[in-house]
Amino acid sequence: MNVQPAVEIRKMCLEDIDRIILIEREIFLFPWSPGNFADSINAGYICKVLQQADTLMGYGIVMLSPEEAHVLTLGIAADWQKKGLGKQLLQHLIQCARQEHVKSVFLDVRESNHGAAQLYQLMGFRQIATRKGYYPAMCGREDARVMQLIL
Ligand SMILES: CC(C)(COP(=O)(O)OP(=O)(O)OC[C@H]1O[C@@H](n2cnc3c(N)ncnc32)[C@H](O)[C@@H]1OP(=O)(O)O)[C@@H](O)C(=O)NCCC(=O)NCCS
Repeated sequence: MNVQPAVEIRKMCLEDIDRIILIEREIFLFPWSPGNFADSINAGYICKVLQQADTLMGYGIVMLSPEEAHVLTLGIAADWQKKGLGKQLLQHLIQCARQEHVKSVFLDVRESNHGAAQLYQLMGFRQIATRKGYYPAMCGREDARVMQLIL
């Protein structure tokens, strides 16, 4: 019998950053730096990784303010995408935000990132605004959809 180890979501630590950066550079055209991750951990943001046995497959970061939470990043390694892991991790992050009694969760997503926007809509996020030229892009700038989930 082949028993798969369970997928675990745990707190991100500084030692994870090297492995996160490998994924980050694989899945984002404009990746965060190691310092961005270290700053998020040190600032006390909700920083989580998703792993199975020794394989780190994804990560997400949420910044809290008194009434709101902001998803700053969410990523699943290319080999592990489209298996329900992004949804699992986002559900966990939303649950963490809920426990802090925030009223809404916000995030920004590139206009062209239809896959991520689809996931967010599935989770109940709705577009509430557009930030013009918010992201750097290969040819100039790209708009961001601002999405909100009311808890
Ligand atoms: C966006 C991302 C986190 C989604 O994670 P994932 O594990 O691949 O997504 P899941 O398998 O959990 O998908 C859950 C649902 O989201 C939607 N979805 C996810 N990826 C999609 C895609 N590429 N195209 C269309 N729908 C998609 C689907 O509705 C899917 O449900 P279904 O498989 O039953 O159709 C992941 O693809 C990723 O890391 N992408 C690169 C980085 C990125 O864009 N991060 C988000 C920045 S805002």
